[in-house]
Amino acid sequence: MKESMLAGYSDVVRLSVLQIGIGSSMADLWRDFLSNQDEVIDKWRHYFPAYERHFEQWRDRSMMFLEIGVAKGGSLRMWQRYFGPYASIVGVDIDENCLKFESPGVHVKIGSQADLEFLGTLVDEFGPPDVVLDDGSHHMDDVITTFEFLYQRMRSNSVYMIEDLHGGFLEEYGGGPQSARNFFNYAHAGVMQMNRHWGREPEERNPVFDDTRGISFYDSLVCFEKGSPRTLVADQVGRSKTKGIRGRHATHTHTVVR
Ligand SMILES: C[S@@+](CC[C@H](N)C(=O)[O-])C[C@H]1O[C@@H](n2cnc3c(N)ncnc32)[C@H](O)[C@@H]1O
Repeated sequence: MKESMLAGYSDVVRLSVLQIGIGSSMADLWRDFLSNQDEVIDKWRHYFPAYERHFEQWRDRSMMFLEIGVAKGGSLRMWQRYFGPYASIVGVDIDENCLKFESPGVHVKIGSQADLEFLGTLVDEFGPPDVVLDDGSHHMDDVITTFEFLYQRMRSNSVYMIEDLHGGFLEEYGGGPQSARNFFNYAHAGVMQMNRHWGREPEERNPVFDDTRGISFYDSLVCFEKGSPRTLVADQVGRSKTKGIRGRHATHTHTVVR
């Protein structure tokens, strides 16, 4: 990126964008964050490339973004700027003071992420979210409860991201390095479920992870991408000297049975 394209931005933004070396479209959210003069946003810097990678497809579309954890309100506004005018931004918090951050297109609902009845009312009112960002209590029991309820209700192409998963290594957040409740250990079961159809004796199905297209692991952060039931196709294409064929000369399909 040329420095001249960053004219008008503060020194900290210009230096960060230039040093990190990300292109203009990739840096939109990062620039917005660094130049924020609005309500306070509380994010680790290293999350931004993951946000942009997984959320970008939902910009400027009619969509529902749900952030669990509103706190000082700045992140909801940042997401509204990022996702654009057609997005419905919904924030959830246990703290009633967060209601003051409601504005046109930004809804705040008060309740606990561990309360399934409350989560049900959100889905009834707004429909299944297209993007979830869990930045709430960070307690492993809550994180897993919320994930198991919402993820199963989400549609193809939706994205479910959980941040601040370092809590999973701490007992006070219901985790520990070896604990099955440490979300990184829990999410590994999702990797095995996503691939269970390859086993000669497939392990038992856990419907929570049905239709998972991909799971990405980062420092303190995991992101699930939802797909639809799949038929996998393996092609052999190219020139075969022995068979004298060009183009496709072998196709193998494998249907993912639940
Ligand atoms: C880390 S802050 C959110 C920061 C905000 N998303 C941001 O980026 O600026 C976590 C918030 O989660 C809220 N919270 C804690 N436990 C919760 C629960 N069980 N359900 C919903 N929200 C909860 C807290 O009140 C707090 O405001």
